[in-house]
Amino acid sequence: MKILVLKETAAHEGRVSLTPETVKKLIDQGHEILVEKDAGKSSGVGDDLYTAAGAKISKDASKDISKADLVTVVSFDSMDQLKGIKEGTVLVGLMKPYQNTKLLKDLAKKKVTTLALELIPRISRAQAMDVLSSQSNLAGYKAVVDSAAEYGRAMPMMMTAAGTIPPARVLILGAGVAGLQAIATAKRMGAVVTAFDVRPAVKEQVESLGAAFVEVEADESGDGGGGYAKEMSGDYKRRQSEKLAEVVKSQDIIVTTALIPGKPAPVLITADMVKSMKEGSIIYDLAAENGGNCELTEFGKVITKYGVKIMGYANVPSRIGFDASQVFGRNIFNLLKIMIDTNASLAINFDDDIIKGCCLTHDGAIVHPNFL
Ligand code: NAI
Repeated sequence: MKILVLKETAAHEGRVSLTPETVKKLIDQGHEILVEKDAGKSSGVGDDLYTAAGAKISKDASKDISKADLVTVVSFDSMDQLKGIKEGTVLVGLMKPYQNTKLLKDLAKKKVTTLALELIPRISRAQAMDVLSSQSNLAGYKAVVDSAAEYGRAMPMMMTAAGTIPPARVLILGAGVAGLQAIATAKRMGAVVTAFDVRPAVKEQVESLGAAFVEVEADESGDGGGGYAKEMSGDYKRRQSEKLAEVVKSQDIIVTTALIPGKPAPVLITADMVKSMKEGSIIYDLAAENGGNCELTEFGKVITKYGVKIMGYANVPSRIGFDASQVFGRNIFNLLKIMIDTNASLAINFDDDIIKGCCLTHDGAIVHPNFL
């Protein structure tokens, strides 16, 4: 099978969909790989490394795309990337299907088979293909490292001859994939860590990482099934807000990751809470792209309000682009394993739960039930 790795064109995208490590493994399996010139540049991977792994560099992807059986991309951006693509080609990448409904129609019209990585079901068999987890994990880590770099003080407690420096107090809101990694990272750096999530089931995980869990007294559970949260009642939100107002004012760094799939991010930190924080504190809002967990967050910007730095970076995994690309490529490699036969040819089973879960367009039609 001929695979083309496209250079990313989306704003803020600094990753590449396959790295030389994965490229080599695919070549060993009998595939031919073409990599668009400079595709890995922004994640620190030069064309020479792809060539050394056995790939060919495509100087004109719009010409070479017609030869490809499968095209990989991190963030699909526009139909311009697919000019010249032939019917039946498979496209694999993050498709943002909820925001890109017009693109779905165009992809179907082109008779491209589109596999959206963000729709891969969160089942055990698909864990090794789950880009949302692999990328959120790194985002959680990077959020703490970035925050520590901006915070003008030390993270761990330091006992010196000149006296003791207290440890930083770090609060993590939302203890999913990104949040748990953020807790682990802040603990490793020596901070005193507290975390909060609406799903009571994560209390044990939070505590096993050595962090304290903030409890909101209520009879309501936020468990929406599948490891995701559900929208809480007005009464719960009021109690949560009162509790957080108490906790927030003593924190030095807050990393927010709270998310309910398909909904705008819940606002957990109000402007008044920001006002109550100490000057020089940090809020790192990983939910910025979905509207932010902090009322004052501005997407893609680092701003200072009431002396508190609020960081709303776009595409945090791209800030750690090499590693993010490495695991992204491995996720794609693992997905491809269920799509090829022993002759290294495409053999997609459209009845497979994983393919059914993520296939958006095929054979000239939109096939995913959520977008019909
Ligand atoms: P996840 O679904 O694993 O975790 C989200 C957590 O938030 C869940 O544990 C959920 O129970 C919790 N939550 C929901 N509503 C809450 C509320 N009102 N209060 C407290 N907790 C609440 O998601 P994951 O993969 O950890 O991602 C977390 C966030 O980080 C998402 O918003 C995601 O889009 C974002 N993200 C952002 C990146 C960026 O570049 N800015 C990169 C990766 C992830």
